[in-house]
Amino acid sequence: MENIRNFCIIAHIDHGKSTLADRLLEFTGTLNERQMEAQVLDNMDLEKEKGITIKAHAIQMNYKLDGKEYILNLIDTPGHVDFSYEVSRSIAACEGALLIVDASQGIEAQTISNLYLALEHDLEIIPVLNKIDLPHAMPEEVTDEIVDLIGCKREDVIHASAKEGKGIEDILKAVVHRVRAPKGNPNGSLQAMIFDSVFNSFRGIEIYFRVFNGSIRKGDRIKFVSTGQEYNADEIGVLKLDKQPKNEIGVGNVGYLISGIKVASEVHVGDTITSIVNPAESVKGFEQVKPMVFAGIYPVETSEFEELRDAMEKLQLNDASLVWELETSAALGFGFRCGFLGMLHMEIIQERLEREFNMTVITTVPSVQFKAYLTDGSEISINAPSEMPDPTRLDRIEEPFIKAQIISKAEYIGPIITLCMDKRGIIKNQNYLTTDRVEMSFEMPLSEIVFDFFDKLKSISRGYASLDYHLIGFRESDMVKLDVMLNGDKVDALSAIVHRGKSHDWGRKLCEKLKELIPRHMFEVAIQAAIGQKIVARETISAIRKNVIAKCYGGDISRKRKLLEKQKKGKKRMRQIGTVEVPQEAFMAVLKID
Ligand code: GTP
Repeated sequence: MENIRNFCIIAHIDHGKSTLADRLLEFTGTLNERQMEAQVLDNMDLEKEKGITIKAHAIQMNYKLDGKEYILNLIDTPGHVDFSYEVSRSIAACEGALLIVDASQGIEAQTISNLYLALEHDLEIIPVLNKIDLPHAMPEEVTDEIVDLIGCKREDVIHASAKEGKGIEDILKAVVHRVRAPKGNPNGSLQAMIFDSVFNSFRGIEIYFRVFNGSIRKGDRIKFVSTGQEYNADEIGVLKLDKQPKNEIGVGNVGYLISGIKVASEVHVGDTITSIVNPAESVKGFEQVKPMVFAGIYPVETSEFEELRDAMEKLQLNDASLVWELETSAALGFGFRCGFLGMLHMEIIQERLEREFNMTVITTVPSVQFKAYLTDGSEISINAPSEMPDPTRLDRIEEPFIKAQIISKAEYIGPIITLCMDKRGIIKNQNYLTTDRVEMSFEMPLSEIVFDFFDKLKSISRGYASLDYHLIGFRESDMVKLDVMLNGDKVDALSAIVHRGKSHDWGRKLCEKLKELIPRHMFEVAIQAAIGQKIVARETISAIRKNVIAKCYGGDISRKRKLLEKQKKGKKRMRQIGTVEVPQEAFMAVLKID
């Protein structure tokens, strides 16, 4: 135990976490340059493209210092707000954290919130100033920020360039010298916390855990505290470049477990593994992660519903945070009401359906979970506009509120405050990190963030603002259900729950957007937005008479065929609502209105 060091990396996206992790692995001989090829810690396709570490992993390094052998466990943490519970569990598995800050950018919101998490768990923080090789690096200013933030000495800040391999040895030495060795009772009953899991279609789910007390041996009978399910520890081991099976993983150490579990929902990040014969309590801090954003997912072709169900079931096998149930829509037929951790999570699921399962799907207006209190005294949760109770039965509605932390250059304060106020936000605090950088905090409804808030924030700040948020509770709000009708037919998939004060504006913009997206028909199409019986906006698409083919001159058959095929393809993504054909994008139009 004395020679073990468990640490994670806290960094903002693109500040160099993966590059630095690679250098550490290389320096300790955990892998050589040839094996390294690309960045090792990020190994999911999507992760690479999105440039964020979606799933945390762990890797073990051996390092010799002053004649002593050390075991260094590096636990990777996801960098996006959607996955903040996973981050908190990775942090809880460590005694130290490298705080990596890009010397040309300074500290960002996500870094600060993860840093606070690390401080709450009493982690030793090792500040690292990365990218000092950049000509526009500002080591002095950024060091000031770091010193201000964590109250360390200037000389505690390690200067590094992950790109050029500078400062790597200093970092490893600091990990050994500054991070304390884990504590725990080697003879106590087994208490190991699950901080991550990975789906393996051949061997079942691989679980990554940290032992807090006792030890786990190959073949042990074990149980998960939160579910009470029992398993056999078929294989345990440590993670280097590959899995290395071991007979025992002792107190303070980090390892993997394979016990033939096929379904992700049995494995909860934060759960405790203990022994059946001598069970221990749960490690504190376990929470069931709850979905924050809900949306319907439907096959574009109604005949593909069974295929979609199959794909959803497979996705759920390896993503325990994805929840869904069956839903039917008059407009879209059979589909699924899905719950996601956040908007990024939703995008990932959509992309995985398309890439891994070759499905084209329609995703409906995302919504948060509202609470409705009815006149008869009961309380219900509303995850979809269709669940909105009749106004006569409704006493009041509450919606989830968040605290949002935004860090930006001082010159963008004005536009950021305007944006947040427009999103029903209230500014709570404003604090200068340096003369040029400001940290602001707002309280605002989560429902205002789920659409395009982040994109807007980025564009008004020219990419300089960073955002982090967490839920602070439910508050009463005047929410109404806004419906859309096409030639009098209600399109349930386009309904949304919106704030009354914004509902007319919303209706008008949505109608305008739909007018752009819905092609002209042989007849006139009326687009209306309504709250209850009251029409709040209307647009009309005028009729066309001519066939597109008529536009073709001469008798060029191949050209005609091409055009027809193109039309057919276009049709594939169309949905028939009453007599009106609606393209798939129209269902997402809500995301694009200002
Ligand atoms: P995510 O995985 O998206 O969270 O990003 P990350 O923090 O892991 O950053 P990554 O290691 O992918 O580095 C982001 C970019 O910065 C890459 O283009 C790296 O090549 C570059 N980079 C990393 N470290 C350095 C450095 O020390 N100097 C310079 N000049 N560039 C660096």
